[in-house]
Amino acid sequence: PGEKPLAGRRAVVTAGPTHEPIDPVRYIANRSSGRQGFAIAEALAGLGADVTLVAGPVSLADPPGVSTVHVERAEEMLAAVRAALPVDIAVMVAAVADWRVESDTPQKIKKREGEAVPSLTLAENPDILKTIATGTPRPAFVAGFAAETEHVIEHARAKLARKGADLIVANDVSAEGGAMGGVRNTVHLVDANGTQSWPEMSKAEIAARLAEVIAKRLDAPTT
Ligand code: C5P
Repeated sequence: PGEKPLAGRRAVVTAGPTHEPIDPVRYIANRSSGRQGFAIAEALAGLGADVTLVAGPVSLADPPGVSTVHVERAEEMLAAVRAALPVDIAVMVAAVADWRVESDTPQKIKKREGEAVPSLTLAENPDILKTIATGTPRPAFVAGFAAETEHVIEHARAKLARKGADLIVANDVSAEGGAMGGVRNTVHLVDANGTQSWPEMSKAEIAARLAEVIAKRLDAPTT
């Protein structure tokens, strides 16, 4: 009866969308369901890791055996990920909003007869994956996701370098599978060794296999 391969390891996983407030009742969001990230957090915990899941607003139950922190905005997500450090494993799956509204107003923006339509000024959000992959203390293994509609592998390989990640899991969000919001996914693992394409499978199965890959990578002697 062997010990679980990730026993004694710490992990942080981000999942879901972020909501960027415009005013107290309105926000900018996206269609991420959080399913893939929740499944990965659960799979890592299943292999014995001590997992913190930082979740944006989703309608999923907290996964069992995982410590889940709920956030809304990208800046809150980054702060919660930082608070979980140091970790051995970081898997950034969240569909973080690229932009937030520069000055969200404390009062609801009123629609007034005859007045000009308001315009929103956007500011860039922090890149959580890049911040964690290039910061200290750096996790031993950092993985990110890439949702692309074309040139999936090339874009993922560029992202690997740009973000400083050890692995990019690329999925074609243009495919019929409807990865974003759906329960199935088709992914390609892109890392320094090359590209590995997996057949279409459920997000739970991808999570289980990915957790195994990560456990093997942590075990392998560093080169
Ligand atoms: O640059 P792009 O958004 O395509 O990169 C996707 C990867 O980067 C995902 O792993 C996502 O979780 C992460 N990301 C992030 N913070 C951002 C934008 C993306 O952690 N602000």
